[in-house]
Amino acid sequence: MKLRTLFAEAVSHLRDSGIETAARDARALISFAVNVPSDRLTLCAEDTIYDAQIEKANQVIALRCAGLPVSRIIGRRLFWRREFIVTKDVFDPRGDTETLIALALQRPAKRILDLGTGTGAIGITLAAEWSHATLTASDLSNKALEVAEQNAEKLGVSERCQFIKSDWFSEIEGTFDLIVSNPPYISQVEVAELATEVKDYEPFIALSSGEDALYAYQKISSQAMHHLTPGARLLLEIGHTQGKAVSNLLDEAGFRDIMVHLDFEQKDRVVSCSIPA
Ligand SMILES: C[S@@+](CC[C@H](N)C(=O)[O-])C[C@H]1O[C@@H](n2cnc3c(N)ncnc32)[C@H](O)[C@@H]1O
Repeated sequence: MKLRTLFAEAVSHLRDSGIETAARDARALISFAVNVPSDRLTLCAEDTIYDAQIEKANQVIALRCAGLPVSRIIGRRLFWRREFIVTKDVFDPRGDTETLIALALQRPAKRILDLGTGTGAIGITLAAEWSHATLTASDLSNKALEVAEQNAEKLGVSERCQFIKSDWFSEIEGTFDLIVSNPPYISQVEVAELATEVKDYEPFIALSSGEDALYAYQKISSQAMHHLTPGARLLLEIGHTQGKAVSNLLDEAGFRDIMVHLDFEQKDRVVSCSIPA
């Protein structure tokens, strides 16, 4: 069988199973199964595929048809052009979060704090982009911290990173030039209404802090001020309906320059603010 045929069959199976992103998913899954980088699949379209590769491709396509997210099947995810390890114990980084990265990179920082780091996608990306920066990355989940440490090692920044188990600021010491966070922002009730692919495969602790969707923002906004150097920034990812509520919390806590920023789909996605210089 040619790679071209294997790919076409995969797209067709995924479409028949109602997967809207069939072509994109097939590219990632077939690339993984036949061990050819996804940007070389077209180049290798006429290559002959061996039985073992076909078997592996069929297995991964079947898992995707059964509803498993692509990143869970292949164990990795591209984020801001770097590949992160993803396991069942961590939140699968989303493209929307790159909005926060783009905003952060507008003003260099030397000491970064990433609260609720998960895979480390936000903090490790910033540490990799700024070769002189140090990162403190925290999470309440030990397993997430293990994955984040592996990612820091894989991406060559581990010497400049510190990983801490902490309930938001409970174990955090010192001050930072930039604090970033993509905290859980869905209420417990709303989690039940999420797509199966999200609610069945993401750790609950990554999605929700309980009944109040704004709980994490309250905790972070009320304590962040004590951990920021003069003029430093705080960047928070938000749910697209939370711009006003989170801005109000930051205003009450005394932050300045509060702004809500849109993502690629023109939805509210990040709130930025700073403290006086
Ligand atoms: C939406 S995920 C974001 C993960 C990662 N920063 C990203 O953007 O892909 C939220 C993260 O917050 C962590 N978390 C939840 N409650 C926490 C708490 N009380 N203190 C610290 N981290 C917490 C979760 O374990 C999870 O890793």
